[in-house]
Amino acid sequence: MFLHNGWYTALWSHELTDKPVGKTYLNEKVVLFRNAGGQVGALEDCCCHRAAPLSMGEVSGEYLACGYHGLKFDVSGRCVEVPGQPEVPPGAKVRGYPTHEKNNVIWIWMGAADKADVTKIPDLPWLSDPKWAATPGRLYVKTNYQFILDNLLDLSHVAHVHKKTIAGDPREATTPTKTERLNDGVRVGRWMIDFVPPPLFAKAGNFKENVDRWQFVTWHPPGVVYLDVGCAKAGTGAPQGDRSQGISIWSSHLITPETEHSSHYMFGFSRDFKTDDQEMSKLLFEGSRATFLEDVEFLEAVQKNRAEGSLDGLIHITADAAQLQARKMLSSMIGAEQA
Ligand code: FES
Ligand SMILES: [Fe+2]
Repeated sequence: MFLHNGWYTALWSHELTDKPVGKTYLNEKVVLFRNAGGQVGALEDCCCHRAAPLSMGEVSGEYLACGYHGLKFDVSGRCVEVPGQPEVPPGAKVRGYPTHEKNNVIWIWMGAADKADVTKIPDLPWLSDPKWAATPGRLYVKTNYQFILDNLLDLSHVAHVHKKTIAGDPREATTPTKTERLNDGVRVGRWMIDFVPPPLFAKAGNFKENVDRWQFVTWHPPGVVYLDVGCAKAGTGAPQGDRSQGISIWSSHLITPETEHSSHYMFGFSRDFKTDDQEMSKLLFEGSRATFLEDVEFLEAVQKNRAEGSLDGLIHITADAAQLQARKMLSSMIGAEQA
């Protein structure tokens, strides 16, 4: 089950150049293209003439030309030209999906077009503000999107799954979190005072001693999760707001269902330190990717045990509070939409 009236992340801006890109979102085949004027179109990936995928076509000036017989479509999906005849047949169009480009992300609205309100797109300034250096990437995960959201709102797995990357101190496994319900999402987080730094952060921040470490996760429905994470030399005032002796990373996780059994996972680590340092970019890109691949291994294995992404019949523990809040919120939004 998917929420249709919501902004999903389709592509990173840099992934859409002069070639159309075909993807499936929420079981619907979509072609995205950027026209000569820079506008983004997202259309049903099926030509209204003989059903060729439009993603097999090419960008032609302001339009997308079907590769089969050359019909041309504008960014809204209207057919504007048929080669060899002066008129376009009435009704020649394909479905167009509302899109919006913001923070170097192309967002797509999969529901009723008249309900698409771009002011509802979450702000992710660390993905585009020059004060930050972002290292965007993409994973394809053979699991239901809901399991990925559960995982991101669950800090209790970190000590077990991420031993090689972002788990540091054994006390992390038992440090409690605080969950907060927002108007438009859920937040969960914790401080870990005077802890051993995790390997990836120790390297990035050159920490030789213990740190005060923070992890704050925010989810906005349907599929945006970001984490404010980092650590600072222990006792230098980070919990009181002074992060000058530490490193801060905003970790973005943009999840869009492909089908009930597969998901698009766009990720990015954004940092405000050593922003011009290419070695640091490489370390954080590869480190974050390795970390999320540790999750993927579990998520794909979970999927094999639970085909539709449900938790029916499973038990819950205290650490599941945030993911259960999020599931409840999303399922009531889906219920309201279907009603
Ligand atoms: S199938 Fe697209 S132009 Fe014929
Ligand atoms: Fe994880």
